[in-house]
Amino acid sequence: MKATQTVSRSSTIGEVDKRLFGSFIEHLGRAVYGGIYEPDHPTADELGFRQDVLELVRQLQVPIVRYPGGNFVSGYNWEDGTGPRESRPRRPELAWRTIETNQVGIDEFQEWARRAGSEVLMAVNLGTRGPDEARNLVEYCNFPGGTYYSDKRRQNGFEQPFGIKTWCLGNEMDGPWQICAKTAEEYGRIAAETAKVMKWVDPTIELVACGSSGLGMPTFGSWETTVLEHTYDYVDYISLHSYYDNRKDDIGLFLSRSLDFGDFIESVVSICDAVKARKHSKKTINLSFDEWNVWYHSNEKDAAIEPWTVAPPQLEDVYNFEDALLVGCLLITLLRHADRVKIACLAQLVNVIAPIMTENGGPAWAQTIYYPFLHASLYGRGISLRPEISCGGYSTQGRDFVPYLESAAVWNEEKKELTVFAVNRGQEEMELETALPDFGRLSVLEHLTLQGHGLKEENTADHPDAVTPKADGESKLEGETLRSTLAPLSWNVIRLKAEK
Ligand code: AHR
Repeated sequence: MKATQTVSRSSTIGEVDKRLFGSFIEHLGRAVYGGIYEPDHPTADELGFRQDVLELVRQLQVPIVRYPGGNFVSGYNWEDGTGPRESRPRRPELAWRTIETNQVGIDEFQEWARRAGSEVLMAVNLGTRGPDEARNLVEYCNFPGGTYYSDKRRQNGFEQPFGIKTWCLGNEMDGPWQICAKTAEEYGRIAAETAKVMKWVDPTIELVACGSSGLGMPTFGSWETTVLEHTYDYVDYISLHSYYDNRKDDIGLFLSRSLDFGDFIESVVSICDAVKARKHSKKTINLSFDEWNVWYHSNEKDAAIEPWTVAPPQLEDVYNFEDALLVGCLLITLLRHADRVKIACLAQLVNVIAPIMTENGGPAWAQTIYYPFLHASLYGRGISLRPEISCGGYSTQGRDFVPYLESAAVWNEEKKELTVFAVNRGQEEMELETALPDFGRLSVLEHLTLQGHGLKEENTADHPDAVTPKADGESKLEGETLRSTLAPLSWNVIRLKAEK
């Protein structure tokens, strides 16, 4: 099978915001307790953070981590997780029907994020709470001192403000499962008023309004329109969430889901711009895809979990090779929409639908999806360029044409490096010819792959390296043409260096 593409420096999509490689830690299952925090673990540091997990997170270079939820945030009293640990309350946590011990809160989490080299994307509770608690939290985190909440932070041992720049105004407020869900009118009003007071406390912050919790919601579209009508002048981003599954065990259909992901992004961009036009506004609202991943493997197991226990093993999807291929396609789609998607969070980071898994008291390891995320985060920073692609394709449920080739290209001016990310969705080997007309002399640094695995192959505690990338791809330059062989069903990262 043959495919061709042209990548030119002049076909610019936009600068990739580093926050495109963000992730998410919720107080859910073993994400926090047994994930990032386990004071009795042999690798725990003086604050109880697992160093083995921190090391895997650091390698990913995650620039921002959303916290503390998710559905959890809609019932959360942030004050519960501050102050002396021994007097923090244990509470029934209604979103996931567990017991929350509050041994980790905002103080500890922001310190963990700092140690991981990440910023915090903080969500405020607009379920059971509202503007008052949200503005207090901004004061606690970002006000220098000399006021009630900023002095509380200082008493708790944090003299310097946390300086949290980006904030989510609630979570999935359209979903009936959400604690104190709202209509678009109710949410739009409360989000606008909350945004105002939060920015009055700290005018430098940026805010994300909740979009629909999924493209399939009956109110999708009208929700975004109404929410933006109320919040347009006060917020900077609108959120999108999406999870995919291969319940039908149909690889063609599964790998076509990144086209749905792209359509979702483009629909929300259209809505933002329609509201902009109606408001005669000069301001552009960008997108925060602050929850995305594959999620379904753990659904049955989760149904059998006893409620009201501490940190049960919820949402512990074990990912396989085909999941890594879809995650690769989704990352490529994010890069191809880098002009409008400024923040994206792989949901989540540790144990809960996550690239990193742990055993309590035992090892931590990288799941299959860790690797495309790692490659995109390390090599996907720079200017996203639009490849002009010509290739065959196939039809699947709901789509007449799914291209065999999914690809994105990123030019890093500082390093003089060009990276081509490509997934071969086809079951045959692909000969890919990439024309590179205006980069001058290039050389191939490496062609990394995930290839040759069974679709259901997984990494486990006993076999943590079953699916790992290798620098075994075939790519060579002939003048301005890059000739690459892409194995059937493969993830490819072709790294090139320019002379100048
Ligand atoms: O990421 C798991 C859950 O998925 C989040 O808590 C919620 O926002 C979404 O429905």
